[in-house]
Amino acid sequence: MKLSAAFGLISDLRAAIGIATLPTLKAIYREPSLVLRPTSVSRIFMAAVWSAFAGPTDEGARAPKLTLIPHATGAVLDIGAGLGHSIDYLDRTVVTAYIALEPNELMHAAIRARAKAAGFREEDVLILRGCGAEDPTAIRAQLDGAGLQVDTMLSVMTFCSIPDPEQTLTQLVRQVLAPGGRLLFYEHVLSPRADVAWWQRFWTPLWRLAFDGCCLDRPTHLWVAAMEDEGPDGQSMNMWSQHEVWGKEGEPEEHLFWHRVGKFIKHND
Ligand SMILES: C[S@@+](CC[C@H](N)C(=O)[O-])C[C@H]1O[C@@H](n2cnc3c(N)ncnc32)[C@H](O)[C@@H]1O
Repeated sequence: MKLSAAFGLISDLRAAIGIATLPTLKAIYREPSLVLRPTSVSRIFMAAVWSAFAGPTDEGARAPKLTLIPHATGAVLDIGAGLGHSIDYLDRTVVTAYIALEPNELMHAAIRARAKAAGFREEDVLILRGCGAEDPTAIRAQLDGAGLQVDTMLSVMTFCSIPDPEQTLTQLVRQVLAPGGRLLFYEHVLSPRADVAWWQRFWTPLWRLAFDGCCLDRPTHLWVAAMEDEGPDGQSMNMWSQHEVWGKEGEPEEHLFWHRVGKFIKHND
């Protein structure tokens, strides 16, 4: 692997630190008890980073997102909604409700504004509170309270950050996605190339500090494909009745951010 590719993320790391350090220190100065809450500090840092990175990242992912997100139908749960950039790709003629799962509350105002700008009525938007993807019971409780069931789950570059990912994803799909519903994802994943994978593992401990837990070395697409559910007879069965995984056109193989795009249909039994 070329050294320029192996060290390609340093400019992003430097930019993230340059953008987010001062606002984070200011927040700690205003509220010193934050130092006892590392998760809150990480979210303040990430909110500042993502306010600068989200636009260009969205621009770079426009083509694969256009092949994916318009497949969302019904009530759509956007897992790790960020600043709501996925909203712009939803086909409003087939999407009935937009539900944002975003544990970083500093991003909620932007999500609401983007949904409004895209023409969603207030009553068709739900921003879940006080939970992350790892809390399916809390998610279900809020959905039930709003009388919603999830027809489509969408994740754009979020499965890289959630804790205990294999368990979390399985429980989320089992408990929250309706039978016959769709899981759509666009994620950077562990490369099949051993040399690229080595560098992804090398960088992950540092990268995850700056990007709120984001890991470069997760084979998310393989975990999702292997996901199991309990069948009607109590036996384990594959979670999906159909699935399709594709790549980002023109992406170099040496890329540390090697993307997979996935469209999975949950079984209906
Ligand atoms: C790289 S950003 C992507 C945001 C958005 N999907 C986009 O495409 O712009 C990852 C997002 O995942 C969120 N996140 C982190 N941990 C999470 C968790 N446990 N459950 C749900 N979302 C989480 C972060 O707050 C962040 O907004």
